[in-house]
Amino acid sequence: AAIEKSGYEHFMLKEIFEQPQTIFDSFRGRLDVEQTLLTLSGLDAIKDKLLAARRIIIVACGTSWHAGLLAEYLIEELCRVNVEVEYASEFRYRNPIIDENDVIIAVSQSGETADTLVALENAKKQGATIFGIVNVVGSSIARMADAGAYTHAGPEIGVASTKAFTAQLVVLELFALKLAQMKGTVSPERLRELIAALHAVPEQVQWILDNQLDNIKRIATKYKDARDFLFLGRGYNFPIALEGALKLKEISYIHAEGYPAAEMKHGPIALVDEHLPVVFVATQDPFYEKVVSNMQEIKARKGRLIAVVSEGDEMAEQLAEDVITVPKSDELISPLLAVVPLQLLSYYVGVELQVDVDKPRNLAKSVTVE
Ligand code: AGP
Repeated sequence: AAIEKSGYEHFMLKEIFEQPQTIFDSFRGRLDVEQTLLTLSGLDAIKDKLLAARRIIIVACGTSWHAGLLAEYLIEELCRVNVEVEYASEFRYRNPIIDENDVIIAVSQSGETADTLVALENAKKQGATIFGIVNVVGSSIARMADAGAYTHAGPEIGVASTKAFTAQLVVLELFALKLAQMKGTVSPERLRELIAALHAVPEQVQWILDNQLDNIKRIATKYKDARDFLFLGRGYNFPIALEGALKLKEISYIHAEGYPAAEMKHGPIALVDEHLPVVFVATQDPFYEKVVSNMQEIKARKGRLIAVVSEGDEMAEQLAEDVITVPKSDELISPLLAVVPLQLLSYYVGVELQVDVDKPRNLAKSVTVE
């Protein structure tokens, strides 16, 4: 029954709409708001290795790599340990320096991605400990990992990853919080705040689905004929900009680039003219003022600004041609909200352009060959 469209036109739309539930499922039983308790049994299983690790390496491909990039920011911030994020296809061939002090987090929806699997097998032979964050139960990566935590997003049929991505983010957040708690690198008050913020996400995602759908559809129709799109963000929103661009490429065939907002003046700003839609992920965080000045740079060059902002933002509303609102959240948690409008934007652009959004050309759900 889970593999039916249940009245939705596409699996992708159904999977986007399932997120309030799937996000809840991925922290269900692992998060106790009252007691400020985090349970991640897989992490306990490799506790000694983790506490001794000089660094953590995250290995993944595609959307899962974007989740990994966000986790680098989170884990370094909360746990004060070095994190490197690697594309599995590069990592497996570049003779990386690995030993028994390394802990590797593998992020994979399918658990069958060939490059990720082989990269992990190589690292394991060199003594590394593998922690799998996988959606498909019993998959190859889940089986070869020393420990892990399932994402519990349920079967994802659409080729473009949506609910699996947000579930990966939840588990990576839990990982970071739990490790920080074990290491004593986060205060009990901050931990309580973050746990509460995470707990609020399903309802906040539902708010986006209930209140922003028509707005996003309208924006999709307005910009569907653009040749290129730019997606910009800073800090925790940078990986979300990358993910927004990947989604749009996959299911609309429109060329899109994701970039750190401040890096664009080192090149991509040359692309900006009155035809280029530029999507800013500009939710409230310590980078906000800087992001606003990046928006002004684009506006001065007549780029068409679309901004994803937190509720109550007035500054961005004045600057941007189109605005999408998401509920306020903690800066470490709000990427989970900001990605949802970008999934919907891609979906509606793809549908407008009559792309087979569930099965876009040239793509496979899991890339089991090199
Ligand atoms: C996402 O929309 C993609 N189709 C793709 O990038 C995917 O995330 C990547 O192939 C990794 O797959 P995995 O998570 O199953 O390992």
